[in-house]
Amino acid sequence: MKLLGLSSGRRMGNSEILLKEALMGAEELGVEVEILRLLDMDIQPCKLCAMNTCPWVMKAPEKCIIKDDAPFLWDKIMECDGLIISAPVYTLTPPGHLKMVFDRGFGPKADVVFKKMEKEQGVDVDERIFKSRVGAFISVGGAKYPNWVSLGLPILHTLTFSFQVAIVDQMQVLRAADEGAVVLDEAALSRARKLGRHVAEAMGKPFEEVEYKGEETGTCPVCHNNLLIVGKETLVECAVCGVKGTIKVEGNKVFVDFPEEEQKKSRLTEEGLRIHVQEIAEVRGAYAPRRHEVPPKLEKYEKYKTPLKPPSKIKQ
Ligand SMILES: Cc1cc2nc3c(=O)[nH]c(=O)nc-3n(C[C@H](O)[C@H](O)[C@H](O)COP(=O)(O)O)c2cc1C
Repeated sequence: MKLLGLSSGRRMGNSEILLKEALMGAEELGVEVEILRLLDMDIQPCKLCAMNTCPWVMKAPEKCIIKDDAPFLWDKIMECDGLIISAPVYTLTPPGHLKMVFDRGFGPKADVVFKKMEKEQGVDVDERIFKSRVGAFISVGGAKYPNWVSLGLPILHTLTFSFQVAIVDQMQVLRAADEGAVVLDEAALSRARKLGRHVAEAMGKPFEEVEYKGEETGTCPVCHNNLLIVGKETLVECAVCGVKGTIKVEGNKVFVDFPEEEQKKSRLTEEGLRIHVQEIAEVRGAYAPRRHEVPPKLEKYEKYKTPLKPPSKIKQ
């Protein structure tokens, strides 16, 4: 059983220290651990060649036109049975380079439903995508109050749901403004060690059998976050997993009733991913008959101002 820790903060920064503490906790239970630091790797953004000709998707990551460390990261993630991602909070969210790396090679490119469909069509897919994988998130901010870390944990979930990492635990640390300051936060260190043990205990279990062990249960019973989309009615939606529920107010307390059948449609589940694949098929199906109208309409925009080039790209 392999547990991979992905550090996306500074070298020996607060998020990396907590990640190491979590890995130490997991190691005590006998799992093999490895750690990768995102900032040590050269990973460039996806150039979005085209989804249906993308060499990463259609052939293999190492066939991508961009030659960098992204295929190495892909292999490491595909090999692991457990994944802990630790991230600092940069202006309310995890750092952009972390999101960029997952946009490069994961998201729809690692979506289990898309991959099952490709396999049915005879495409040679990386079978490791389908293996049971559990995970946890560590988010670290320097602020005193949680309203400055509001999108840290929710956005970390968006990195892993396409390839069905069953999230067993998550933690948000505050007041870690200075480099290394977290070593003085005994509560955060012991919480991280516990998180590592939770991951180690769940590794190898199938997705449906993984039980959430986080201390912060959250409003949403599926992703355990508190981020809601509120419209003009009492129907609300979890911004992370898309589950719909009804908001209820009793005195000064707010509850959300998320029916069981709605929870099953969470985008964290295979059923939720399947619903989205269907939705995309409908969007593309509606577009297909009008595809021929697009090229003449594009001309206007092709002819409009050419984007400026930075000095480094101008030939002398
Ligand atoms: C560009 C930038 C933006 C930041 N924005 C926030 C923020 O919105 N909320 C917060 O709590 N901390 C913020 N911080 C503080 C970091 O989250 C904090 O210092 C964290 O411990 C850094 O993690 P690291 O030591 O693992 O790199 C920010 C730091 C930087 C460099």
